[in-house]
Amino acid sequence: MAAAGLVHGLAVRPGRAGFMLEVAAEDVTLYNPVRAAAEAALARVPGVDQAQVVLTTADAAPSHGVAAYNVNPRAAPNAGHVHAPAPSKSRPTLGATMKPAHVRQVIAVASGKGGVGKSTVAVNLAAAFAQMGYAVGLLDADVYGPSVPRMLGLVDEPEIGPDKKLIPPTAFGVKAVSIGLLVKEGAPMIWRGPMASSAITQLLNDVAWGSEAEPLDLLVIDMPPGTGDVQLTLAQKVRLDGAVIVSTPQEVALIDVRRGVAMFQKTATPILGVIENMAYFPDPATGEPIEIFGRGGARGVAAEVGAPFLGEIPIDIALRKAGDAGAPVAAVAPDSSAAKAFLAIAAEVAERLKDKSLLKPPPRIVVVD
Ligand SMILES: Nc1ncnc2c1ncn2[C@@H]1O[C@H](COP(=O)(O)OP(=O)(O)OP(=O)(O)O)[C@@H](O)[C@H]1O
Ligand SMILES: [Mg+2]
Repeated sequence: MAAAGLVHGLAVRPGRAGFMLEVAAEDVTLYNPVRAAAEAALARVPGVDQAQVVLTTADAAPSHGVAAYNVNPRAAPNAGHVHAPAPSKSRPTLGATMKPAHVRQVIAVASGKGGVGKSTVAVNLAAAFAQMGYAVGLLDADVYGPSVPRMLGLVDEPEIGPDKKLIPPTAFGVKAVSIGLLVKEGAPMIWRGPMASSAITQLLNDVAWGSEAEPLDLLVIDMPPGTGDVQLTLAQKVRLDGAVIVSTPQEVALIDVRRGVAMFQKTATPILGVIENMAYFPDPATGEPIEIFGRGGARGVAAEVGAPFLGEIPIDIALRKAGDAGAPVAAVAPDSSAAKAFLAIAAEVAERLKDKSLLKPPPRIVVVD
């Protein structure tokens, strides 16, 4: 396959590996068994827990723009073999820089490097915003490795409303949408970079995030790692009100922070701040911090690039378990030190958005007698 020049975009992350097989559109069905065999072979490689091989085609995207993913007839009774609703003609598309309908603010949680805890941070920040009384949504923009459904315990496919928009399921007060809710794990997805970007812009656009009467205060986007097509599309096409950059203290991750910051600066997205995740491990006996990867590097890089430092999240076994179990600590264990850190960071982010008059405070109930 590699010799035939079909293999593209090999990506290796901790425990995960994947690549794309680029074939002619008419050969897609033909290559499905090849894809499955390649995925099975990849999964047998020691250290790979999750393998994904994606069939892509260099031909034009289908008119829906979204991958031809597997169908669930219940969720999309009239949609043929494509899940996503057809874009309505009257609605403006995200071609120009804009926000999805009825969404006040959009922020991205990003990192240059994979596996630093972006999704953990995005999910917990969203849950923290919900606790603070904001109407909050979470978009999982990691189309190749979606993790939001698992982290929020979501399994059901979203329904499609009468206006043909996806109705986002709510978990822990957070309205969440992910490609992972639409595509069965291991299902063949047929998209290449621009198609993945278009899938994401549809997830932004064709989801009933809010309504005229009840707009969403804040949409948090869990970005895929890196600075590729998908990230650029988002940063360029969506009017992001800010970006939160997540890093671990390791030098290799910090180099990527600089890259991430540079990308957002290029697209004039304000950097809301940098978070140092896995900053230290509290000694179980004494509570003293053990600095496994060193500590304070992200604070230093933040200062260097003139971005605010938002705080540290310790390595916390309960935090990882909660993520795996689909119950974010910020919602289910608000007294834990990790949850307190997320709540404090969410408060800080909300302040920064308010400072720029970007985020309205949640409505206060005034009793008049
Ligand atoms: N502070 C932490 N303490 C303990 N475990 C953590 C912490 N932060 C993240 N993890 C764990 O590390 C793993 C990777 O985290 P996560 O999936 O959030 O990273 P990511 O940056 O979104 O990864 P990817 O680049 O693959 O999208 C997960 O198993 C998560 O539970
Ligand atoms: Mg992730």
